[in-house]
Amino acid sequence: MNNTRSHVAKWPISSRIFHWISAALLLVTWSMILLYEYLGSNSYIGYHKAFGISLLCWMIARVINRIFTKAPPPIPMPKWQSLASKLSHFALYAILIAMPMAGLLMSVYGGRPVDIFGLFQIPVFVTPDRTLARFYNDLHVDIIWTMIIGFTVLHIVAALYHQFVKKDNLIARMK
Ligand code: HEM
Ligand code: HEM
Repeated sequence: MNNTRSHVAKWPISSRIFHWISAALLLVTWSMILLYEYLGSNSYIGYHKAFGISLLCWMIARVINRIFTKAPPPIPMPKWQSLASKLSHFALYAILIAMPMAGLLMSVYGGRPVDIFGLFQIPVFVTPDRTLARFYNDLHVDIIWTMIIGFTVLHIVAALYHQFVKKDNLIARMK
């Protein structure tokens, strides 16, 4: 099979844009937490929330786009690898949606509206409840974040394995 760059079956441009902007938004949302933790300035947690909500909207649009998109034909690989890639892609979609939802619920159950870049606010649309705020905090910080790290590392290691070990030019499909 000819896998040189010009013959590679690529994802449609919409999928490629959705993919890389999601990755960038994840990086920015996480960087805001690092700035918040190391510089101790409260404005960064505000940006963290606003970028996190942006990622939520982006992921919802991405899933809708994915439903209407035809994937390029799969690269030949052992059955377990193609199953693992399907499961881990599904997991990435699910956790990138669950994470900002848990963050939003943590905030509103804590009685705090969420400001989106000073443009508008998501009001407290639930009755504040400390127990539920705590629950969503644990979900956000301990459980889903750990899963995001795990699945993202696995995803990038798999991409590098295709690139440098199998040399099947898989990354070019998403470039
Ligand atoms: C995919 C989007 C998001 C990611 C990847 C993310 C990631 C994180 C991470 C890594 C932390 C720090 C965990 C730690 O202390 O070790 C954190 C904390 C926090 N996040 Fe998010 N977050 C996202 C979306 C949101 C949203 C949408 C909100 C609220 C609207 C939010 C509110 C918060 C708050 C208030 C904290 C501080 C919690 C604490 O210090 O106990 N996050 N987030
Ligand atoms: C250096 C970073 C990254 C590289 C090289 C990379 C590479 C790729 C490639 C090549 C594919 C297509 C696989 C195929 O055609 O079967 C893909 C799909 C995907 N990537 Fe990434 N990726 C990166 C970062 C990320 C990040 C940070 C996320 C989100 C956390 C992510 C989420 C996804 C998802 C959900 C899919 C599945 C698309 C689908 O089947 O609908 N990627 N990635």
